[in-house]
Amino acid sequence: MSSIISRRRHPAAGYAAVAGGLVVAGVLYSALSGGGASAATAAQDQSQVSQGHSLFLDSCSSCHGLDAQGTSQAPSLIGAGAAAVDFQMSTGRMPAKDLSAENERKPQTEFTQQQIYDIAAYVASLAGGPSIPSASQVSTSGANTALGEELFSTNCAQCHGFAGAGGALTYGKNAPSLNASTPTQIYEAMLTGPEAMPVFGDGTITPAEKKDIIAYITDTRTEANPGGFSLGRTGTVTEGLLGWLGGLGFLVLIAMWLTAKRRDGHVKAESEQHS
Ligand code: HEC
Ligand code: HEC
Repeated sequence: MSSIISRRRHPAAGYAAVAGGLVVAGVLYSALSGGGASAATAAQDQSQVSQGHSLFLDSCSSCHGLDAQGTSQAPSLIGAGAAAVDFQMSTGRMPAKDLSAENERKPQTEFTQQQIYDIAAYVASLAGGPSIPSASQVSTSGANTALGEELFSTNCAQCHGFAGAGGALTYGKNAPSLNASTPTQIYEAMLTGPEAMPVFGDGTITPAEKKDIIAYITDTRTEANPGGFSLGRTGTVTEGLLGWLGGLGFLVLIAMWLTAKRRDGHVKAESEQHS
């Protein structure tokens, strides 16, 4: 017991705690503020929410209800999150036309990406839910494609086929080909589990593993990626992150220096008290 206490009081433990805390804060900060900054901050923009609300009333409320609460025709979207809206609309599944047909991927012709973000912001404003992943979250630079292949075989291949080419499901529905899905859509599909697909939350498949899976899917397919995934944006995000971590390192050094000075004083005072 006393040895644990004295080890905890060891100055190095303090340094480690301070450094660890700051690194965690930095990583959290960069994760929250990363490439999703535009989507995330915009999602809080009130005018965007009301813009999205009026688009929703025009195009979605007939099935999903005036307050997205759901009807006998379509599920509630409260808590579905921005990621579900962006996935469903960017893949052309929503707004659905025909309730009897299976919703399939098709070009989104009615809405601009900005209007999709507006509706996503409105749905997110109702009760949160998974948000649209940032450019850095879906960037596959440094991802482990071999691990991605393993994860894909265990988690996805039973429905989508080994090459992600799609396949029939036992109950007469189809899991689609993943050949045209963008990295953002793949990430969103895992976060939101459309239709018969399960949700793969970050506890099941970590954010790093999601990147590995995306890398495997996009590296192995032969078709060119028609989606608008731009590596240019990844570049600036990475630079920003490096800058942040550099500045953070400097703060860590200052904090360690300050705590070192204080701690010396405390330890002396304490040992005088105990003796
Ligand atoms: C013709 C009726 C209809 C219209 C119009 C419609 N939807 Fe849907 N929507 C459905 C049905 C039915 C489902 C459930 C089946 C499915 O998930 O594919 C659904 C599912 C969804 C989901 C998935 C819910 C979840 O929990 O993951 C989202 C998100 C969604 N719709 C958004 C929209 C948005 C946004 C619009 C307007 C742009 C819209 N829908 C218009 C019928 C409709
Ligand atoms: C139980 C079967 C099942 C499993 C397991 C499954 N999916 Fe799906 N997935 C589906 C179905 C069904 C759809 C179509 C949903 C719809 O149309 O609303 C789908 C849709 C998708 C889409 C959208 C494709 C597009 O562009 O239209 C992606 C991307 C995707 N899944 C990725 C994955 C990944 C990655 C995994 C493994 C981590 C996975 N899925 C596991 C059944 C499954």
